[in-house]
Amino acid sequence: MKISPSILACDFARLKEDIDTIKTEVEYLHIDVMDGSFVPNISFGIPVISSIRPHFNNVFDTHLMIDHPLKYIEKFKEAGADIITFHLESLDNPFEVIDKIHSVGLKAGISIKPKTPVEELVPFLDKVELVLVMSVEPGFGGQKFDQVALAKIAWLKANRKSNHKYEIEVDGGINEKTGKLCKESGCDVLVSGSYIFNAKSRKEAINSLK
Ligand code: DX5
Ligand code: ZN
Repeated sequence: MKISPSILACDFARLKEDIDTIKTEVEYLHIDVMDGSFVPNISFGIPVISSIRPHFNNVFDTHLMIDHPLKYIEKFKEAGADIITFHLESLDNPFEVIDKIHSVGLKAGISIKPKTPVEELVPFLDKVELVLVMSVEPGFGGQKFDQVALAKIAWLKANRKSNHKYEIEVDGGINEKTGKLCKESGCDVLVSGSYIFNAKSRKEAINSLK
């Protein structure tokens, strides 16, 4: 099981120090970008990603909760993203966004909100390297896990064909208990923010998810 700690739960005045506490334990770092339009919250953007890039050697798992991902793909690439995940519900054409991400040499992820049926992903499954199933309404950390994600994870696992190469990732309300349910349903990557960064021992929290 890969773990992707969400820096949304960090103290932004101590971002490097917070990343230092987990960086040797995890495969991915989850970076939540919010534009105040696609979601009712604003987090941080490209300069913050560039600033933390020298302090984490593994994969930057960038989650764009923005209306118009297409025009920013190059900027996120320059800032140091490795995977760029955008939302199926964003306003741009998903085929174009996937092609753009690939054209700059990065892995493409596609995400769905809790209310979006998983079957809507079918046209894109042979084109992406990651599918991100939201288990909370995107916009805020620290929310309660929505069980609707489990059936979607199981569906994505059951329908992964030989020509598919996507990892299945889940995001929102992940702790030891909900993480286990996701693992049993077939998840490959767990995103976790508050459970990891609010834990007394972040290392133990990560191990419990693994
Ligand atoms: C929510 C974000 C999540 C969030 C997860 O919009 O996409 O990545 O940080 O935080 P927790 O683990 O606290 O639910
Ligand atoms: Zn996220």
